[in-house]
Amino acid sequence: MIDEEFMFRENIRAMPPYVPGEQPAAGSQVIKLNTNENPYPPSPAVAQALRSFDISSLRLYSDPFSKAFRKAAADVLDVPEDWILAGNGSDDLLAMIVLACLAPGRKVVYPSPTYVLYRTLAQMQDCDIVEVPFDDDYNLPVGELISAGGAVTFVARPNSPSGTAWPLEQIEQLARGTRGLLVVDEAYVDFAQDSAIDLVRQLANVVVLRTLSKGYSLAGLRLGFAVGNPDVLGMLNKVKDSYPVDSLANCLGTAAMRDQAYKNANAKKVCQSRQRLVESLTERGFAVYPSESNFVLARPGDGNAQGLYQGLKDRGILVRYFKEPRLDDKLRITVGTPQQNEALMNAIGEIVRR
Ligand SMILES: Cc1ncc(COP(=O)(O)O)c(C=O)c1O
Repeated sequence: MIDEEFMFRENIRAMPPYVPGEQPAAGSQVIKLNTNENPYPPSPAVAQALRSFDISSLRLYSDPFSKAFRKAAADVLDVPEDWILAGNGSDDLLAMIVLACLAPGRKVVYPSPTYVLYRTLAQMQDCDIVEVPFDDDYNLPVGELISAGGAVTFVARPNSPSGTAWPLEQIEQLARGTRGLLVVDEAYVDFAQDSAIDLVRQLANVVVLRTLSKGYSLAGLRLGFAVGNPDVLGMLNKVKDSYPVDSLANCLGTAAMRDQAYKNANAKKVCQSRQRLVESLTERGFAVYPSESNFVLARPGDGNAQGLYQGLKDRGILVRYFKEPRLDDKLRITVGTPQQNEALMNAIGEIVRR
């Protein structure tokens, strides 16, 4: 028996662990629509970079500042390189922000429900947490977020699990009204109509987070980045890991970033499939939130989301079910290939007939 009380901080003992979506063993035959991965493979340029990767370079530490990757991202986004900070997935950037800004007596604010990791990271810091509930249509509660006065305010745009986004004017209003840092988490931006990136140039308290996990089909590589004013990124730099991005991720991520055409073509396919999926679900009596992401939040007509989740799982199809108030009558379904979506709809049809 370990002496937990002596060893571990009280808040860590009290908090629940973050529970990621199920990851079935590699090679298993399930249709995986539960963690918003891209159904298409990474760019051929990534495959080529992997074939040419010099394995002997792994003997050395990776570039601690990811210079080549940051140059590629800076070119794509048309910002200077010192406006980019790379991390081990955007989760790592979130962790840096929380570590640099939050502590007991300091406040984090975000609308809810949203990405659960914001709460988990805040609990680790034992800071004050203000969760402002969305209304049933997931409108952004701008005024309440501002008046809560967080040292950090998180907004996932598009939001998860709703898939929805809000007009950029509302994000700007929030940024202008907020004294603290406004973090716009754009994990799903590649499937959305627009981005808050221009705000970063105008307002020094805005940071945009991006990831290669979704649009670039590289969830397993673990690479994300922040775009922000160098004054802000300089602070985050102080709390980062010594070598947060490994050499392979630096190399392959740079290749992926330089192939925007491939990423955009896949994102377009996903958005087209999303449209068809929404139509099929609606015909089946689901209420579906308007999505700008690579997933949809959908309520079956009878509200029995848990039964449907289990029925789909029994048929080898994984979707995401959140057993919590306001979400427990809905499923979050990642948009798959047209074939995967058809298999999903067939399985739903079969379950409903029973
Ligand atoms: C809103 C949001 N932000 C960030 C992430 C984490 O992305 P990454 O894989 O870059 O850590 C996710 C992952 O699902 C997400 O949904």
